[in-house]
Amino acid sequence: MLIRIRKASDPLPSEIATKDAILNRRAFMQAAAASSGVALLPMFANDARAAMKIDNVMKTKWGADEKPTTLKGISSYNNFYEFGTGKEDPAANAHTLKPDPWSIEIAGQAGRIGKFGIEDIIRDNQLEERIYRMRCVEAWSMVIPWVGVPLASVLKKFDPTSQAKYVEFETLVDPKQMPGQRSRALDWPYVEGLRMDEAMHPLTILAVGIHGEILPNQCGAPIRLVVPWKYGFKSIKSIVKINFVEKEPVNTWQAQAANEYGFYSNVNPERDHPRWSQKRERRLTGEGGLSALFAPTVETKMFNGYADEVASLYSGMDLKKYF
Ligand code: MTE
Repeated sequence: MLIRIRKASDPLPSEIATKDAILNRRAFMQAAAASSGVALLPMFANDARAAMKIDNVMKTKWGADEKPTTLKGISSYNNFYEFGTGKEDPAANAHTLKPDPWSIEIAGQAGRIGKFGIEDIIRDNQLEERIYRMRCVEAWSMVIPWVGVPLASVLKKFDPTSQAKYVEFETLVDPKQMPGQRSRALDWPYVEGLRMDEAMHPLTILAVGIHGEILPNQCGAPIRLVVPWKYGFKSIKSIVKINFVEKEPVNTWQAQAANEYGFYSNVNPERDHPRWSQKRERRLTGEGGLSALFAPTVETKMFNGYADEVASLYSGMDLKKYF
């Protein structure tokens, strides 16, 4: 694995964006702000960093007592195979992604289908900050202050029919923008799925920002899923298609290694991954060096600590079988 050492003088990955791109991306943030009746961002901020800021984000109770991982930590150690399989690859390579303009195709069992600009997808929603614990299957975790909107309120706008039992999500396929797609590391597009009640759960969000700033490309710009009680891999990045379907979708990691991952794969400290224990995790704070090897370990909790909110979704299911 290639390790790229970042110099202190290097810009933060979140700063790697052209001014035009920033202004366009702010247009969709303004759509969200306008519909919530709050003041808009200053239109022509000169400072690139200030221009990445998302204004008018409503703070929520989620994670108010957690200490978030630093932005540098969150944006320097990622899984995004479209930009390489190493953890440092996405930060080094994701500048080729063009998140503006961006549209999402809504398909399948819904009253309103078609292609919609990202500004229409999130319009009428108040942007919220939710600080969620995120747990990767490889046993590292971070605390991430997401900026986003509840997925449920987005999905409802497209009038899913009674046949819509699951929601399937797809990432962009464009090897020019996503050079990792020239390799066969995974079958492209990256696909994820949720059962309708998981998708509609109030904890599930579509994120457009982190730490009050527009999502860095390597974190799934311009819009990604966040399902905090599941492994991070459920949280598909750079979404271009949302498909309401009747049958359980086959997600990328299930297709890749069905003996290790299923549709319901989850953070279960009581069931070891076939290749490692799941009892503890390394909490990456982003401070004092980014190496996962030196991060403090903490106990892994059932449903990543969100059992009170979500355990009832799985009552009657043998979660050792649906690993
Ligand atoms: N989405 C796409 N399109 N491609 C990916 O490779 N990796 C998944 C998930 N979403 C992935 C993806 C995995 S394995 C994890 S752990 C999380 O993204 C990591 O998200 P993060 O980099 O923001 O921590």
